[in-house]
Amino acid sequence: MAASRSPLRLLGITLLLLLCCGSIAAALSAEPDHVTLTWAGDPRTSQTITWRTDVSVPAGQIRLWEPGPGQTVLAPGVSLPATTRLLSTDAVDMNLHTVTVSGLKPATLYQYQVGSGGAWTGPYSFKTAPLKAEPFSFVIFGDSQSLDYRVWRKTLWQAYRDNPAAAFFVSMGDLVDVGQDYAEWEDWFEAAAGVIESWPILPVVGNHECYTPERIFSRPRYFTAQFSVPENGPAGLERQAYSFDYGEVHFSVLDSQAGEQKLFVPDLLERQRQWLAQDLAGTDKKWRIVLLHRPLFGNKPDGVNEYLRQVFAPLFDEYKVDVVFTAHDHVIARTVPINADAAAAPPGFGTIHAATGRSGTKTYQNVEAKEWNAFFENPTAEPNYLVVAVTGTALKVRTVSVNGSVVDEWAVEKIVPKATE
Ligand SMILES: [Fe+2]
Repeated sequence: MAASRSPLRLLGITLLLLLCCGSIAAALSAEPDHVTLTWAGDPRTSQTITWRTDVSVPAGQIRLWEPGPGQTVLAPGVSLPATTRLLSTDAVDMNLHTVTVSGLKPATLYQYQVGSGGAWTGPYSFKTAPLKAEPFSFVIFGDSQSLDYRVWRKTLWQAYRDNPAAAFFVSMGDLVDVGQDYAEWEDWFEAAAGVIESWPILPVVGNHECYTPERIFSRPRYFTAQFSVPENGPAGLERQAYSFDYGEVHFSVLDSQAGEQKLFVPDLLERQRQWLAQDLAGTDKKWRIVLLHRPLFGNKPDGVNEYLRQVFAPLFDEYKVDVVFTAHDHVIARTVPINADAAAAPPGFGTIHAATGRSGTKTYQNVEAKEWNAFFENPTAEPNYLVVAVTGTALKVRTVSVNGSVVDEWAVEKIVPKATE
């Protein structure tokens, strides 16, 4: 389990929540900011840390240590070098510095600082995953795209404060409204500051990551530059599609933006179909979760996305995917368990598709419950998030409104042990 947060940190969170009415602005300088935790490798023994500076800073380092006397791994003053890459945006050029620290001890709390050009920031902390799979929890946020990113900030901070043991969070795509407008990312990172230095993100690409300010389609270039995730996806789609294991869960993360990227990757879905078949065939994890932005079984008038369904649904059936989490429609919804395009019988032998609502400002009116839904709500009043608890026998999912009320609660049970156990 992740470390519980200290009273001091909770005080800081409360103060920042109180500051939510302040304006969101960031200034690019030689000092590190946008400090972000992801995993490019094994969460039991590694952590990936990314930050940015202006282009005057050609390199970066981290300091890392175990808190407490006599437990120092790397003493302050001893540092690891970062890989530095230039990111040119419509607004400004910047350097992104990334370090993947490996060889860490499982289930261990570490503190770290990032530094560039003599300026250090932090310390922040993270905790590695247990060596042997244990129960854990994580949080999911639907689309955070906003007219006012203080709403996203409030949702994120609320979830962070109320779920101190959650190991990481998933962002389901459409993190921002215009993905190739860097001003949007400034607001997103500013809103997330204070959380993402200590709470790793598992990001999913959405259609809005593929839009320019002129509303021309683009590769999701700013997204893939900023989030260093496992580069184990299909060739040419590195950081857009990938898989990741935490505990007894195998996560397959897909890119559903076939329309937006057809000029650049005409076979975007087919490439992922081949990869996903191998990816799912190759895991022995008890739980299989797929994350993709656009739903196969949606709640807008057009309902089923036939292209996505034809490409991916047979694989979800064949490899017994437990849950597909989706976004895009900004609704809180879940289907009955589905197999072969019909309600599965018995209920345990199908895939539940769960739409994750919205964590930003955007809502839709043209959404409705469909015949495949076991639950539907349009969260027009308040944003929301999901908490997923993974136990030895169940995935327990709770959808929580930012006002604290529980909107939906459900579980997938799996009492049959794995064949390898
Ligand atoms: Fe979307």
